[in-house]
Amino acid sequence: AAAQTAADSRYVFNELAWGNDVNHHIAEGYNADILVRWGDPITADAPEFDVMNQTAEAQSQQFGYNNDYVGFAEIEPGRGMLCVNHEYTNEEVMFPGLGRQDRAGFEGMTEELVNIEMAAHGGSVFEIVKGDDGRWSVNRNNPANRRITANTPITFDGPAAGHPRLRTSADPAGMTVLGTINNCAGGMTPWGTYLMAEENFHGYFWTDVLDGEGDPDVSAQPEAASMERYGVPGRWYAWGQYHDRFNIDREPNEPNRFGYIVEVDPLNPDAMPIKHTALGRFRHEGAETTIASDGRLVIYSGDDNRFDYQYKWVSAEPVTEENSHFGSTLLSEGTLYVARFDDNGTVHWLPLVHGQGPLTAENGFESQADIAIDTRLAADLLGATPMDRPEDAQPRGDGTAYIMLTNNSRRAPEQVDAANPRPESNFGHIIEIKEEGGNHSAEFGTWSILVLCGDPEIEEVGAQWNPETSENGWFGSPDNCAIDNAGRLWISTDQGGNWGRTGKSDGLYSLETEGELRGHSKLFFRCPVGGELCGPYFADESRTLFLAVQHPGTDGTSDFAGFERDSTFEDPATRWPDFDDNMPPRPSVVVVTKEDGEPIAV
Ligand code: FEO
Ligand code: CA
Ligand code: CA
Ligand code: CA
Repeated sequence: AAAQTAADSRYVFNELAWGNDVNHHIAEGYNADILVRWGDPITADAPEFDVMNQTAEAQSQQFGYNNDYVGFAEIEPGRGMLCVNHEYTNEEVMFPGLGRQDRAGFEGMTEELVNIEMAAHGGSVFEIVKGDDGRWSVNRNNPANRRITANTPITFDGPAAGHPRLRTSADPAGMTVLGTINNCAGGMTPWGTYLMAEENFHGYFWTDVLDGEGDPDVSAQPEAASMERYGVPGRWYAWGQYHDRFNIDREPNEPNRFGYIVEVDPLNPDAMPIKHTALGRFRHEGAETTIASDGRLVIYSGDDNRFDYQYKWVSAEPVTEENSHFGSTLLSEGTLYVARFDDNGTVHWLPLVHGQGPLTAENGFESQADIAIDTRLAADLLGATPMDRPEDAQPRGDGTAYIMLTNNSRRAPEQVDAANPRPESNFGHIIEIKEEGGNHSAEFGTWSILVLCGDPEIEEVGAQWNPETSENGWFGSPDNCAIDNAGRLWISTDQGGNWGRTGKSDGLYSLETEGELRGHSKLFFRCPVGGELCGPYFADESRTLFLAVQHPGTDGTSDFAGFERDSTFEDPATRWPDFDDNMPPRPSVVVVTKEDGEPIAV
C-alpha cells in the first residue's frame, strides 16, 4: 500500500498557521462564536454585568471566572444544559485599580473583593439552545439554571463522610461543606450528571504561622504530615483573612473537605451536590468516565502535581438502569487504583484498599476513610510511578486511555524512567494505555508513548512526532483532551510560563492515533494572547465543539515579545473578546461549528 501522507489524514481541515495575537483564530470553514463571557447573566433575575460596580450577589447569578471544563447534558437535539467549571480568579485583571497583588499581604483585597472572588469560583449550569441558523445561545429562563460557588452547600458520601477528620465548628457532623473550589477539568457520567474535579484546593488556605523564610510552618499542626504532602496551606488567596474556615490556625480540618470529585445534577437545581470521597482526595485534574466491557463504571483521574500519580476508579457493580442516577452507589462503592508504569511497557493498577498490603493501622491508615482523605500518602506506600504532572486522562470505548503529562521542569536526569523519559521536561508528553482485553476495568495493561512534545527542529528538546507534523502542528504542554464520536483525539494546551519558549499561543490540536500517521498533529484553533485553552467538548453528534478560553491576557504576557508587561485591569495585553476600552479581557466559552453545518472534521 502507498504510504499515508498528511493529505490522507482523517482530520480533514486546512491547518491553521501558528502565531500569537490579541484575537482567537479557527481553521478555515468553521465558525468560532462567543457563547458566554465572565459576568454574563445566566439566570432569569440576574443583573446585567457592571464591571465597575461588581458585587458578590450579582456575581453569584452571573457566569463565573476562568472557565475550564465544559460538559453538556442534552435534553433533546439542539437543547441542553451546559456545565462549566470556574477554576480560579485573576484579581489584577478583574478589579479596577487593584494592580498585581503581593501574595504575602494582599493589601488591596477587601472583604467585598474576596467575596466576589468566591462567587466567581465553582461552576455554572444553564440551558443553551441551537437556533434555526445553527448558532447556539443561552436561555436564561430555564428555572434549573444555577451557579455553584465557594459558598454552595455540598454533602459528602463514601468512606470519609461524617468522619471526625471532616468535622469543623460549623459542621460538627462532618457532612456538609460550603463550596467547591479550583474546579479544573471534569466529566459527564453516563447518566448525564456533571462531575467537577477539585484541583489546587491547597492554595486557598491561610496560616499566620510562618517559618524563618516566610513560608507556612505546619509542624505544630496535628495533621502536619498530611498537610505537608498536600501543600496545605498555599496562601495563594486572601480568603482566610476574612473567612475563618480558610484559616487552618482556626479550622485545621477544613482542608480535608476539599480535593474531591463533586457530582451535580444539571436538571435539578434543588439537588445538593455531592463530594464523592471514595474517589480519593488529591489535586484532581478531571474525571472522565467510561463503561468497561464488563459493564462497570470507570473514571480516570490524574493528580496534577510534579511527581504525582495517575488514578482510576472502578465501580463494584455494573452500570444498570436502576443505578444510573444522581448520587449513584457507582460513585461510592468500588475500588480506587493508582498506576505503576513499568519500564517494560506494562501498567499495573494498584488497589488502594484498607487492610491490603501496607495500607494498615500500623502505617497510619485506620480505615478506608483515611485512605480517602490521605490518598497521596497511601499511594506513596504502594510504589506508584511519579509522573510529569498528570493532567486530563481520556478513555475511549475500546479499552484505550490517553494520559496528558503536561511538563515537569524539576525532574532530574537520575529521576528519568521509561514513562517519564526526559529530564527537565518543559513540553510534556502523552501516554497511550491499552487495558488488558480492551476492558477499562482491568488491573493491568500495556502503555506506550504517543508523542513527546515540543519543537522537533530543536534537537535538545528531544521531541517525537510523526514526521508529517508541520511547524504549525507541534505543541507543548498538553492539558485537556477529548475524543469525538469517530474516536479521534483532540488536545488543548496550557503552556503557562513556558509560553515564551515556543512563541505560540495555546490552542487546540487534532492528533492522529492510528496507522502510519500516528503522532501527526494539526493546529485547529488558537487562543488570544495570554489565554490558555480548556474544554474541549464535542456535542450534537460532533456538529458542535465547546472550547473555553481561560484567563485571556495574562499568562506569560510579561515575557513574550510585544507584550512586555503584566496585564492589569487598566492595561491588559488584550481586551478579548469585547475589544471595548471599558472592559478588561473576559474568559469566555467559544462554540465551534462547521460553516456547512456538517460534523466537525469528518
Ligand atoms: Fe488546572 Fe491541571 O490544570
Ligand atoms: Ca487542566
Ligand atoms: Ca477531557
Ligand atoms: Ca490548565
